Amino acid sequence: MSDQITVVGSANLDIVVPVPQHPSRGETVLGGDHARIPGGKGANQAVAAARLGGAVSFVGRIGADAAGVELRSSLMNAGVSCAELKEVADAPSGIALITVGPDGDNAIVVSPGANFHLRPADIENLDAVTKASVVLLQLEIPMDSTIAAARRAKGKVILDPAPAPADGLPRELLDEVDVVIPNETELATLARRHVDPDNQDDLVDAARSLAIPQVVVTLGSRGALVIDGAEVTAVPAPVIEAVDTTAAGDAFRAAMAVSVAAGQTLEQGAASAVRVGAATALRFGAQPSLPTATEVDHLLT
Ligand code: RIB
Repeated sequence: MSDQITVVGSANLDIVVPVPQHPSRGETVLGGDHARIPGGKGANQAVAAARLGGAVSFVGRIGADAAGVELRSSLMNAGVSCAELKEVADAPSGIALITVGPDGDNAIVVSPGANFHLRPADIENLDAVTKASVVLLQLEIPMDSTIAAARRAKGKVILDPAPAPADGLPRELLDEVDVVIPNETELATLARRHVDPDNQDDLVDAARSLAIPQVVVTLGSRGALVIDGAEVTAVPAPVIEAVDTTAAGDAFRAAMAVSVAAGQTLEQGAASAVRVGAATALRFGAQPSLPTATEVDHLLT
């Protein structure tokens, strides 16, 4: 098996507006100037893993439009192989509408567009999937395509269950997955109950209810909790003043994929992933904020 990491997932053009507060239902809020920034959970994770030194392929779909050109070029500039990033004629590229608040917190609406044109049949015989040592998945493409990718993978399968389906994850997907990495909100959705993020026992119980031996829960500024079989390890995050948390979670998951591909334990992976996620939150935007390993050290000193 190679040390190849393959990401099967979404690419979105993010339309980002800084706001004094996020609008509530029926409210209009005046924000700052908007920015158009390459994003999408899948593409972010591919770019992040490549910047951290991984050999990365991306499998996805974009529209035949200007946004698609920007999305492909951001991936290629990071050194991601885009042989399986194809244009579709009958849908626009995915976009995400993002507001970023003064604390760097965000709210996101995704219009998947071309991302939902990646079909299970497109994944059937892809060497990029069958020959990868790690396949990294999210849920911004059709669920049956995510399941097809997980089934075809022969290496480790890591799932970022975002956005989390309200009715939980299908067992046929969970059966194919080695490591699940939800954030605290996604964990509560998947466990279908309230979870107290300050209560480690509650987090562990909720994680174990997924019936996957390896779960890593990301907890934002509180760090991460690694549940590896019987072992539970709390990993604190560096203290930072966040500028924009967009893609910090993607950077964390990419760092985990790079560590797993290098044969490290989940605990070792999480120790570096909390630093990569924190460094990402110190810069604005999704893909422009994703750091190299050297930048992580500079940003956190
Ligand atoms: O995780 C952040 C990403 O979520 C954004 O880049 C946006 O495109 C959505 O996919």
